[in-house]
Amino acid sequence: MDLLARCRQRAAALLGVESADVAFLSSATEGANQLVAGLDWRAGDNVVVEDIEFPSDIYVWTQLERLGVEVRVARQWGGEASLERLAAVMDERTRVLAISQVSYLTGRRYRLEDLAALAARVGALLSVDATHAAGVLPVAARHADVLVSSCYKFLLGAHGAAIFYRNPRRLTDLSPQAIGWHSAAGHHRVEAPTRYRLRPDATRFESGNPPFLALAVLDNALAYKDLFSPAWALVRRRYGWNDGRSFRGHTPVLATLAIRG
Ligand SMILES: Cc1ncc(COP(=O)(O)O)c(C=O)c1O
Repeated sequence: MDLLARCRQRAAALLGVESADVAFLSSATEGANQLVAGLDWRAGDNVVVEDIEFPSDIYVWTQLERLGVEVRVARQWGGEASLERLAAVMDERTRVLAISQVSYLTGRRYRLEDLAALAARVGALLSVDATHAAGVLPVAARHADVLVSSCYKFLLGAHGAAIFYRNPRRLTDLSPQAIGWHSAAGHHRVEAPTRYRLRPDATRFESGNPPFLALAVLDNALAYKDLFSPAWALVRRRYGWNDGRSFRGHTPVLATLAIRG
């Protein structure tokens, strides 16, 4: 099996999803932009984020303000983050709940199934950044509509490659933010050079060649993931990370790792 197919399979296994639903992008930020470009936004729609969110995951949505879309910020800083505070700023015009599984700033974490239930209450899509979860906690990507993770934190990969998941359940036809020869199915036809069909699987989001060098590093790192997972399971048990509470109390260590990352 070639590097790309093997790495895609390993990344899919990490997220518990099918290889066909995984694309490799150049950064987590690129992944966060995909819904911005792909949805039919209307004035009066809103997107919900937290104040403790990674800057990219807030900034990308501000591009929609010119269309009359509001970026609503749930205030979580300084207290115990809660789903209730998120719910309080969501309503039937919330199109996307955009959130990290684990906050880069405070270490608070959510269970993706709880976030999915929250989004479902108002019919919103769930966009997840799993950068600070992947490699340490299980990432059940199927609960998200899109999910992205950079690879240079606990995944022990390198800069230049990010894992992007597109859930085909609701987003079969999501158009990529950038389109190129890798996004198209079949062969280019000189007699009809402007005609093409987007690939049905997540590779439609890979506009050009994927970042092979960074993927070689990631592929190697993912091959050793199972070696580390018993150690992480012990840490999770020791510190009660499995029970859905936040990382409070362990924040300084994680924040240091995050910033050094
Ligand atoms: C939660 C989170 N998302 C994304 C990033 C940045 O990812 P990228 O540079 O791949 O866009 C970081 C970097 O610290 C992060 O903490």
